[in-house]
Amino acid sequence: MNHFLDIHTTDKSQLRAIIEQARAMKTARDGQPKATPDVEQPLANHMVALIFEKPSTRTRVSFDVGVRQMGGQTMVLSGNDMQLGHGETIADTARVLSRYVDLIMIRTFDETVLHEMAEYADVPVINGLTDRTHPCQIMADVMTYEEHRGPIAGKKVVWSGDGNNVCASFLHAAAQFGFDLTFTGPVQLDPEMEFVGLARNAGVSVTIERDPDKAVEGADLVVTDTWVSMHDAQSARERRHNMLRPYQVNADLMAKAKPDALFMHCLPAHRGEEVTSEVMDGPNSVIWDEAENRLHAQKAIMRWCVGK
Ligand code: CP
Ligand code: NVA
Repeated sequence: MNHFLDIHTTDKSQLRAIIEQARAMKTARDGQPKATPDVEQPLANHMVALIFEKPSTRTRVSFDVGVRQMGGQTMVLSGNDMQLGHGETIADTARVLSRYVDLIMIRTFDETVLHEMAEYADVPVINGLTDRTHPCQIMADVMTYEEHRGPIAGKKVVWSGDGNNVCASFLHAAAQFGFDLTFTGPVQLDPEMEFVGLARNAGVSVTIERDPDKAVEGADLVVTDTWVSMHDAQSARERRHNMLRPYQVNADLMAKAKPDALFMHCLPAHRGEEVTSEVMDGPNSVIWDEAENRLHAQKAIMRWCVGK
């Protein structure tokens, strides 16, 4: 049994195996209607709990569909509706859920909730996003990059904007998959230095460049995310917008990257804020493939978790 808690805490060769399996499973069901069961049914007789303490479209639907394609069953639970949101400890919740389900995916605020769930559950636990990281997303992103451009190792990825939870998992992936990462954004929103250090210690280059035009020079991939994450205070909205406006990914900025540079965004996007529609809908954007690959990557993650 394996927990999938973060990219930097999962073995490099296992991460690579997950991506390869995701790719094979995607190819195997090419063009099939969405509800067609996979030929292999690794989650047959498995019950999966999907717990959301924050909103979600992609994570919720892709996990649910993925489990069903692999022969399992799901229950989608809102943290608020559970006793979890009303004082029952995480440890007790984990012990109880382990008697009913075979796998738990949780999206929560503080990552200590995720870690406590994993510590006390007898079944695998998957990180479906915390305030600090979003590993499933970046597994899909690596898969998407490689589908379009081949190996990501040695490539230059530029993160423009807020050094948030998605950026953190990109730093972890830089360390594990061997690509360089340039962060461009305001100093107040730098990624966590612990994660920058972790990537540098792994031997990849992490550059912090305040000028977005300089940052994207030679970029193979440009990535951004919302300026106000679910865990950010709405009262900080205007201040964050003012700080982040110079880091909008628009056609002018993309023109300074390599001509074949890809554009990614985990979505949901705010058109006209962190990215323009011209870029989102433009020829270098792979955002819909990225969203689709959440499904395939997570199916492979779930298989790895249950050892099937
Ligand atoms: N990218 C992502 O995790 O989207 P949702 O918040 O819709 O799940
Ligand atoms: N950084 C965003 C990602 C959403 C998928 C958030 O945490 O709200």
